[in-house]
Amino acid sequence: MDKLFIENLELRGKRVLLRLDLNVPGDKSGAVTDSTRIEAALPSIRYCLEQGAALVLCSHRGRPQGEHLPQMSLRPVARELEEHLGRRIKMPDEDPRYIINDQAFELADKLRPGEILMLENLRYEKREKANDPHFAMRLGSLADLYVNDAFPVCHRVHASVVGVPKFLPAAYGYQVKKEIDYLGRLQRNVERPYIGILGGAKVSSKIGVIEAFLKKVDKLLIGGGLSYTFMAAVGRPIGQSIYEPYYTAVAHEMMEDYPGKIVLAVDNYVVEEIGPDFEAELVERIPPEMESVDIGEQTRELFAAEIAQARTVFWNGPLGYFEDERFAAGTRFIAREVAKLKDKGAFTVVGGGDSAAAIRQAPDLNYDSFSFVSTGGGASLEYVQGKVLPGLRALSDRG
Ligand code: 3PG
Repeated sequence: MDKLFIENLELRGKRVLLRLDLNVPGDKSGAVTDSTRIEAALPSIRYCLEQGAALVLCSHRGRPQGEHLPQMSLRPVARELEEHLGRRIKMPDEDPRYIINDQAFELADKLRPGEILMLENLRYEKREKANDPHFAMRLGSLADLYVNDAFPVCHRVHASVVGVPKFLPAAYGYQVKKEIDYLGRLQRNVERPYIGILGGAKVSSKIGVIEAFLKKVDKLLIGGGLSYTFMAAVGRPIGQSIYEPYYTAVAHEMMEDYPGKIVLAVDNYVVEEIGPDFEAELVERIPPEMESVDIGEQTRELFAAEIAQARTVFWNGPLGYFEDERFAAGTRFIAREVAKLKDKGAFTVVGGGDSAAAIRQAPDLNYDSFSFVSTGGGASLEYVQGKVLPGLRALSDRG
């Protein structure tokens, strides 16, 4: 990328505003339940500290829409980060009005090399999402340099992503580099067969990626919520399964334009209602009163046969209602089939929070079972489509 990289910056004695994606899942109290994104932030943090910079860390967490929701606070995240770094992280006292208040400026001014300040959840202020220039300027005035290491939010036109680089020299960090190196490989000459696997709830949110993928992949395996719109489009019964009637016409068109490329489930596990009292049943035709919650056994074998041939795989989205342990088997089975390819030298990439969560929940899998597991959800989908992400475009040019 022809943009400034963190290693191109002269960091000694400087204060760096480091935009991270610390949007980590938490329990009801906000305590961190998965530290993947915290760990992904460590290389850039450590590099800045080693180079003699002071850090002002900022991130969003969840979608609080301008409300100070305590379960979305970054305080528990700061505590966890302190443990990883073995250093104290200062935070301004809770202020219900502003996250960049006078105290934040005072603390930032007093930072010495090696010291760290963290701001509260940027989305506690509506001005972050609105890309308010005044808010971006206040953020920028906390530091001398800006580093974006928040790949999962690079598709968002928010103040801390595209606004701040207007005021400061702006570079990308180590995690962003890793993401664009790996995901970028899917945009260039991929080894074939190239298999795309898409799941998740909505066709509407993935229509662009499905279209882009149909042009690139040799086969597109579609499961989970997405697939029922496609099944409905070709007149297959879907019972009460979720689908988007408005998108059946476009789904139908895609299947006609790319004959044989889209592979759908041939059988499904169905329930009368999602709940502890309802047992799943395996069917080839979904009965009118039932809804599908997982791909069936024949489908698993059908998908596995395609995956076994692949030299390149991109997988995004669960293939069933995996949040319920009883219906996670199909998603896990597919994850395992993809994982088998790594030893055969194939290139396997997983994107999206739900797919990553499915991997973490599987006792016999971890992120090393794949060539790369992206920290990004929507951002990775946009990137692999070949879109230029606003957060990357906003960075300073190199040279
Ligand atoms: C993500 O989890 O994908 C990123 O943190 C972006 O979050 P958002 O979809 O709420 O903007």
